[in-house]
Amino acid sequence: MNFGCNYYPEHWEKERWLVDADLMQKAGFNVVRLAEFAWSKLEPEDDVYDFDWLDEVMDILNKRKIKVILCTPTAAPPIWLINKHPHILPLLRNGQRMAFGARRHYCITNRTYHYYSERIIKRLAEYYRGNPQVIGWQVDNEFGGPKCYCDSCRKEFQRWLKLKYKTLENLNQSWGSVFWSQNYTSWNQISLPIIDYHNPALDLDFRRFFSDMTVKYSYMQIKILKSITPDKFITHNTHDSMELFSHLNCYDLAEKYDFVSWDNYPQKLENRFHIELAHDVIRGFKKKNFWVMEEQCSYLTREDITPTLPPGQMRLWTYQCYAHGAEAVLYFRWRACSFGIEQFHSGILQHDGTNKSISYKEAAQIGSEIHRIGPQFEGSNVVSPVAIIYDYDTVWANYGYWGNYGYQKKPMYSYPDEILRFYKAVRKKGINVDTVKPTDDLSKYKAVIAPLMYIVTDEVENNIRRYVEEGGVFVAGFRFGIKDIHSNMVKSVLPGKLKKLFGISIYTWDNLKERKVEVKDDEDNIYQADTFADLITPEEAKPIARYNSGWYTGYAAATVNTFERGRAYYVGCGLPQSFYDRFIERVLKGLALESIEVPDEVEITTREKGGKRFIFVMNFSDKPSRIFLGEEYTELIKGKRLKGEINLDPFEVLILIQRIL
Ligand code: GAL
Ligand code: ZN
Repeated sequence: MNFGCNYYPEHWEKERWLVDADLMQKAGFNVVRLAEFAWSKLEPEDDVYDFDWLDEVMDILNKRKIKVILCTPTAAPPIWLINKHPHILPLLRNGQRMAFGARRHYCITNRTYHYYSERIIKRLAEYYRGNPQVIGWQVDNEFGGPKCYCDSCRKEFQRWLKLKYKTLENLNQSWGSVFWSQNYTSWNQISLPIIDYHNPALDLDFRRFFSDMTVKYSYMQIKILKSITPDKFITHNTHDSMELFSHLNCYDLAEKYDFVSWDNYPQKLENRFHIELAHDVIRGFKKKNFWVMEEQCSYLTREDITPTLPPGQMRLWTYQCYAHGAEAVLYFRWRACSFGIEQFHSGILQHDGTNKSISYKEAAQIGSEIHRIGPQFEGSNVVSPVAIIYDYDTVWANYGYWGNYGYQKKPMYSYPDEILRFYKAVRKKGINVDTVKPTDDLSKYKAVIAPLMYIVTDEVENNIRRYVEEGGVFVAGFRFGIKDIHSNMVKSVLPGKLKKLFGISIYTWDNLKERKVEVKDDEDNIYQADTFADLITPEEAKPIARYNSGWYTGYAAATVNTFERGRAYYVGCGLPQSFYDRFIERVLKGLALESIEVPDEVEITTREKGGKRFIFVMNFSDKPSRIFLGEEYTELIKGKRLKGEINLDPFEVLILIQRIL
């Protein structure tokens, strides 16, 4: 099993490297990530290279059987390069050029930047070709921004649009440019969305464009590395920032990598479901296990300093990574740095460098456990009966409305929050979830859930219809299919061409951000609806909940329809969690693990391999908890047989082994 940390040896005096490597080895670290952001150390002057320091530290690590992942250093171009070519610096949306002094200060379409990137990457790859200690590459660091609004990007955007729309007539038509007199008569009239409330169609295309340009830049790097070092894996560490990787189309980005990685900073115990979901979304990008390239080990530098982790919490989060399909966990960072912008950011070691830190002791514990038990579940997979659709058109179409001043602000409705309502209900039952593209083959899933799915293309519509015809259970959240591929509202009666499938019509809706509306389900439970309401007129469908206030009364709030061999549910408004819990209970009857009962604070996630199921049971509470095991299980970490009532310590983790057919 891969277990390690992110190491920045260039931040420490050489004499320390030996001590560090010894401590790493003692903690069971067998892999470290090196040379991230180290461009100015690798190429101190234009075309002058120095890899000696890296060789030296790698040698020390090698003697301790520690493998290395090297990074292409392109997230931090050095000052000599910027001074020589100042146009590499991105032009920000406010018209200011980004200054040197932080990171990610490059324009993604800048050809000069591509040239210098290629050169350093080739050098590195050629130099480390044939070195077996280097097992893989990380390309750049956390692609995704800042977006650049320079002339080069604008011209690229125009070219991109021309390829896509072929004629201006087509573009004007697709964008609805007649609105507010925006008709274009020449490609070079089209600008980037620097004003706050641009045409939503342009806005959506700009997001796609920026994503494409990033994918292109990333692919340029991959191609070089693959051609020179075909034996080493290539990955990229993407980031979450609580928006579920919304900055780029990560399905596209993931395509050319051997596997994807991500940087996981959960911050709070209460973010458990969000982090679970992020792991599942990451796994969904390539339908494959992944790496956690950076994992939080204690307090972080954010707007403020986040809390120090109490003993046990880092271990809990680490096992959560493995439970959801991680093949490696590397902590960020080895040691807290005494200088630079992240001085108030913990490492496995504190600034003092001793082995007395909570995180070091805990890492050593996990290290010894993981090497002992990891091989048992290594190569196993997360098998899920339920899928949630995660789609970038929908993510981005949600931003393009004019009440949303500034792109960095929140979208109209929170896609992650809408997903989480359903996700939590499913996960509380210990049922695994995959996230999928709307065009993916859905047939292997018992149920597919599509919250807040604005954009439903013809292809997707057919995909969903086929799935339900063949016996699938499909669940839509409110605002399903309201937009077309250009982020324009559809003109048909909602829910569009899938009206028959749902057996409903929606003629009226309401924004519930400020209005209180009651809903009553068919078991007479009363809820307060929130966020948004589609007022449903059932046709063939049967209501399972109705609005119960004023002029809303009479409309259905949630419905079910039998369609061919399957069923289609529509949940028309936001509701309290208790609704989703009951709803999922009814939709997914029989899917939960019956032999285990856990309270809400305990997570269950499973991986499978060779007739064995590994059931990760994790207490996401700093208080003791209690579970009930209906059968006898062998527990992997302690090697005991367990049955009946079991007390869990705060943050405790069990891995139960179950035989499956
Ligand atoms: C990550 C980034 C790291 C470090 C870390 C701090 O997003 O990749 O380099 O800045 O955040 O939490
Ligand atoms: Zn640019």
